[in-house]
Amino acid sequence: MVEFALPRNSKINKNGNFYKLENTKGANIKNVKVYRYDPEDADNPRIDTYQIDLNDCGPMMLDAIIKIKNEIDQSLTFRRSCREGVCGSCAMNINGENTLACIKPIADIKGDIVIYPLPHMQVVKDLVPDLSNFYAQYEHIKPWIQTESKTPTTSERLQTPEDRAKLDGFYECVLCACCSTACPSYWWNGDKYLGPAILLQAYRWIADSRDEHTDERLEQLDDSFKLYRCHTIMNCTRTCPKGLNPAKAIAEIKKLLIKRVI
Ligand code: SF4
Ligand code: SF4
Ligand code: FES
Repeated sequence: MVEFALPRNSKINKNGNFYKLENTKGANIKNVKVYRYDPEDADNPRIDTYQIDLNDCGPMMLDAIIKIKNEIDQSLTFRRSCREGVCGSCAMNINGENTLACIKPIADIKGDIVIYPLPHMQVVKDLVPDLSNFYAQYEHIKPWIQTESKTPTTSERLQTPEDRAKLDGFYECVLCACCSTACPSYWWNGDKYLGPAILLQAYRWIADSRDEHTDERLEQLDDSFKLYRCHTIMNCTRTCPKGLNPAKAIAEIKKLLIKRVI
């Protein structure tokens, strides 16, 4: 449902903490401003500022955040796992851009660094958004191969190199939700519109020559909210940290739906 005013407890307090670097001799100081919210205290969110020495820090944004947690403030909460852009868990908004912290170079950011959780999501704590609805939508599109024919007993289900190539640009998605949470249509209708990440995943199975439920998959998406809330604004494609093109996947689904009726 569209909301035109922020909930009272989402407004940011001006009383954030400042963690000054003690030993500044020869240091390359960077200010990192981080959104902090703890549901267990009564306070509204705040922005804490941490000074770190870039001469003693790894090159990526996730290195800076881990350094802050290890050396300055153990209460800072965020998700991460692989540290190489394949698990999708360290997605956050860094200086206005949704991205994966582990593959975002600190050197790309001039001046202070400002980190928020992915936008327009409920916040569980600090930089951790609630992705329950996102994962429920993923489950909804049945992200697994569906077949009717007998399972081969002597080999895998094979596909030609040409058919396999049709999955390029789609199978690489790491479900980080950067694109969906950059999409204005998803902000306003995230309960009903599936959003670019889930639609890209849906297309990945529609395009798979081994899947035998293509028609049911298309039928399921033929819905004014689930699919057609996409207005081709392209924020999704612009922000994807893996360089994928969810807007193209959405356009391909729409083309296939048109072909079904003519
Ligand atoms: S192209 Fe569609 S899915 Fe992508 S940001 Fe725009 S409205 Fe959202
Ligand atoms: S399409 Fe890109 S931005 Fe969207 S979930 Fe997949 S990897 Fe993340
Ligand atoms: S930690 Fe896995 S994608 Fe960043």
